[in-house]
Amino acid sequence: MIEVDNVTKRYGSTTVVDSVSLTIAKGGMTAIVGPNGAGKSTLCSMIGRLIPMDEGSIKVDRFDVTATKGERLARRISILSQENHVTARLSVEDLVLLGRYPYTHGRTTVEDREHLEATIDFMELGPLRHRFLDQLSGGQRQRAFVAMVLCQDTDYILLDEPLNSLDMKHAVAMMKLLRRVCDEQQKTIVYVVHDVNIASWYSDRVVALRDGRIVHDGNPSSFMQPEVMESIFEVDVVIREVKGKPFAVYYG
Ligand SMILES: Nc1ncnc2c1ncn2[C@@H]1O[C@H](COP(=O)(O)OP(=O)(O)O)[C@@H](O)[C@H]1O
Ligand SMILES: [Mg+2]
Repeated sequence: MIEVDNVTKRYGSTTVVDSVSLTIAKGGMTAIVGPNGAGKSTLCSMIGRLIPMDEGSIKVDRFDVTATKGERLARRISILSQENHVTARLSVEDLVLLGRYPYTHGRTTVEDREHLEATIDFMELGPLRHRFLDQLSGGQRQRAFVAMVLCQDTDYILLDEPLNSLDMKHAVAMMKLLRRVCDEQQKTIVYVVHDVNIASWYSDRVVALRDGRIVHDGNPSSFMQPEVMESIFEVDVVIREVKGKPFAVYYG
């Protein structure tokens, strides 16, 4: 279970995450949505202990993220950041293996290799495995980064915009894959996404942030209501049924 309790983050006099409390039970997929600047990345980064919080506490399976040794936490929770800058000239395979670092500190074991092979297979990265990251398209690189996170093999997985740069085919493939990881390996996935239809289609729960606060939290059908979505995103929304599920149209 991830327990976010009254967490606040400020930059100077601006509060960007404002007394957020959120409990995410083990298992299932939770989408985090909200307008640009709502605090989604900041919240994820605090859960993944990439940045400190000003107030409140976060626990992952009862381990307080600020008090637990980094490595111990890294075997429980992994995070894909929104911005991934890799300066070293790494191959896809090297990057994916970095996910094993919390276990073996770079001394690759047979088990690490097995995880690597399984992840490369699963993510269909075989043809790209020996390419350097700077020889990939944005979408291919994004898949490699998600593979690194999956190779870390943690119970909890946080993904900040995993669909960044992916085309339709790869976005859907990624969502199906995450759903499989969640269902077949009993992982808990929390991911930030902009496409509300993707959020509703593939998730068990949708949490919406706006101005650093949670403004909606519920199952996809409670989220896919015109008045709910209009209040979060300030756009006109029409809901239609497609393949038996609610689908939001907000163009025009
Ligand atoms: N290092 C920082 N210094 C100052 N302000 C920041 C910093 N990081 C994020 N912010 C601000 O915090 C707010 C929330 O940012 P972020 O969590 O990245 O939003 P989201 O991911 O929902 O688009 C934004 O207004 C952003 O400008
Ligand atoms: Mg963000």
